[in-house]
Amino acid sequence: MTFHDLIFPDGFLWGSAASAHQTEGGTYNDWTEWEKIPGRIKDGSNASIACDHYNRYEEDFDLAKKLGHQVHRFSIEWSRIEPSQGKWNATEIAHYEHVVQALVSRGIRPMVTLHHFTNPLWFWDNGGWLNADSPHIFAGYVRKIVEALAEYNIIWNTINEPLVLATLGYLFGEFPPGYRDFDKALTVARHLLMAHGLAASQICRTYEERGLDRPEIAPVISATYFMPADPSNPEDIELAQYLDEVYNHAWIRGAITATLPEPIGNGSKYVPLQRSVDFIGLNYYSRMLVSSELDFLAGEMPPKDPNLERCEGLDWEVYPEGYYHIIKSMWERYHTPIFLTENGIGTLDDMLRCRYILTHLQQVHRAISEGVDIRGYLVWSLTDNFEWTYGFGSHFGLVAIDHQTLQRTPRESALMFHEIVTNNGLTAELQERFLGRRGR
Ligand code: BGC
Repeated sequence: MTFHDLIFPDGFLWGSAASAHQTEGGTYNDWTEWEKIPGRIKDGSNASIACDHYNRYEEDFDLAKKLGHQVHRFSIEWSRIEPSQGKWNATEIAHYEHVVQALVSRGIRPMVTLHHFTNPLWFWDNGGWLNADSPHIFAGYVRKIVEALAEYNIIWNTINEPLVLATLGYLFGEFPPGYRDFDKALTVARHLLMAHGLAASQICRTYEERGLDRPEIAPVISATYFMPADPSNPEDIELAQYLDEVYNHAWIRGAITATLPEPIGNGSKYVPLQRSVDFIGLNYYSRMLVSSELDFLAGEMPPKDPNLERCEGLDWEVYPEGYYHIIKSMWERYHTPIFLTENGIGTLDDMLRCRYILTHLQQVHRAISEGVDIRGYLVWSLTDNFEWTYGFGSHFGLVAIDHQTLQRTPRESALMFHEIVTNNGLTAELQERFLGRRGR
C-alpha cells in the first residue's frame, strides 16, 4: 500500500479530552452513590481517587504541553460548584479558574464542558432530569460558572452526549438513575435539549453584559454508525435508519433549528435554542450492527465481525469508515462546522491505539478533502481514567497511569500524536511506520 502525506488545514486544532469525575478524584455526586451498588462497576472500582487530577492538573497540563496539545477539553463538576441548591462554593469556583489559567499559561486553549454525565445528589431530590424545571436549575449553575470564567478565551461545550445520558440512564439502566423506560428517556432528552438552549443563552447574556465578544458555544453529541446486520433485508435497513435518525440526528437537528423535534418533543419552537450551535461537537468511537430479528431495546445484538479489532472491555469494533460516513451525514444535513471532540480506544495494546488514531484521522482527512469544515480533533483521553461502568478496566490514555503510584507515563501513541500535531497531519512516512508492513 502506498501512503500519501495527509496535511490538515491551517489553524486545525489538536488536543485531547477528559472529564471531571473520570479524572479528578474527590467528587461527590450521583455516580459516587452508584459506584457503591455491587455489580454496577464491572471491576468493582470507584472514582474516589480517579487520577487525582484535582491535585495534579499542573503536572497533567505540563505533559499535554510537552506532547504538543493545542487545546484541552475538560469538564466542570457541577456538584462542587453548587453543593446544595442555590449555594455556591467560592473555593471550588476559584479552583476551576486556576485550572483554566494553568492551561492558558501553557498556551493551551481551554474547551470547557459544563455537564459531563454527573449530577449533584440534591438534584435528584426534585426529580433530576425528569423534572420539568431541570433545564432552569442547570442554567443557574451555568450562569455562576460562566460569570467566573468569562474573561478567558474559552470554547464552551454545554452538555456532553445527551443521548448517551438519556439512553444509558433511563432506557438501558446502565448509568444512574438506572431506569428502563423509553418515555422517560425521551423526556430526559427533551429536557437536556432545553438545558442546552438555556445554557447557551446564559453564556451569551453574561458575555454581553461584560461587553465581551460572543464566545464559541456547542453541545457535544455522540454518534454511532448504525449498519443493517443483513444489508439485503429491508427491515434491517429501516431499523438502522430509524436509529440513526433518533440517536444521531433528532437532538442536534432540534438544537440547530431551535425546535423540540419528534420523538423527543412535539415539534414546537424553543427560542433559547436559537444560535446555540456554533459548531457540532462530535464524538465517534464505533459502528453498531442492528437486526430487525432481535430485540434492540432488550439489548439483543447480532454477532460482531471476528475480523475487526475491538476496544477493551466495551468491546466496540474498530470501524474507521463509519467516522467518515457520520461526519459526512452531519455536514450534508446541517452545514455547520464540526469539532471532533472525542475519538480513541481503550486498550493496553498501544500499537492498536496508534493504528486506531491514524486510520480514523485518514477518514477525517478524506471528509475534509471533500469540503467538510472540521475545526479540530481531540483524542479521548489525555490519561487513562475511570471508564464509567468499566471502572479502570479500559485504558483510553495517551498517557498511562499506574493506579497504585499515580505515576504518569506517556505511551508511544502520545509521541506519535505529537508528531501529527507538529506536522499538522499524517506524513506518508508516519503512516508507513505504523500501518505499513513495518507497523504490523
Ligand atoms: C464519554 C466519555 C467516555 C468515552 C469512552 C464518551 O461516551 O464522553 O466520558 O469515557 O466515551 O467510553
